[in-house]
Amino acid sequence: MPGSREEYEYWNRLASKFDDGSIYVVGPAIYQDVKKWLTNQFKDMSMVLELGCGTGYFSQMITDRVKHLIATDMSQEMLERAKEKLGQYNNVEVRKDDCYGTSFENNMFDAILLVNLLHIVKEPNTVLNESYRVLKPGGRLVIVDLTGHGMPFFSKMGLGIRYVRTWGKPAPYNHSLNPTELSKTVKEAGFVIEDVKLVGRKTKAICLNAKKVK
Ligand SMILES: C[S@@+](CC[C@H](N)C(=O)[O-])C[C@H]1O[C@@H](n2cnc3c(N)ncnc32)[C@H](O)[C@@H]1O
Repeated sequence: MPGSREEYEYWNRLASKFDDGSIYVVGPAIYQDVKKWLTNQFKDMSMVLELGCGTGYFSQMITDRVKHLIATDMSQEMLERAKEKLGQYNNVEVRKDDCYGTSFENNMFDAILLVNLLHIVKEPNTVLNESYRVLKPGGRLVIVDLTGHGMPFFSKMGLGIRYVRTWGKPAPYNHSLNPTELSKTVKEAGFVIEDVKLVGRKTKAICLNAKKVK
């Protein structure tokens, strides 16, 4: 089941304002906290695939930590921005692909990166199954997902107001995840969880690292 036309149009519409808009909505601090955690997950990785890379904002954080990164997204407008950002790196390819069923063979990658993808797709389990299929045995699944979980009430309300002001209605399948629920879905896809934590001061993100054992 590929992403729908409604989702495609939604993400295309946001692309030109996505980086500035997102920083305004969630605040710059969480990006720094995530960067610190994320860069530590990628040491000497050879082949890395990112699904739902958007404008390439997080892809850029790991370009010097991996031999080869393929950054993919279904939205053409997002990919145009990602190409502008990532075009300068010889070890990065930007490609159109659908996270429900990618064009890659089994067991190809040392790591898969999913940032802010699982809370906006209709079927997170399908995306995790696809990630499992294309990962090598021993490969890593690295997830970062912004969440309302653990946020103080007034911070959450403020974020909601800034979101609606900036983007209008939420993404078609938007739903906030919590670490327990996400860990369960990741385990059900066959992964073994190595690390899961909430990072951030006011705004929070779930950061999870899991392994494909066989
Ligand atoms: C919330 S944005 C996150 C973008 C980026 N990872 C970030 O955190 O800045 C979600 C991204 O997932 C992409 N996306 C949604 N459904 C998808 C699908 N079925 N296949 C591939 N990409 C998809 C959207 O186009 C959008 O760029």
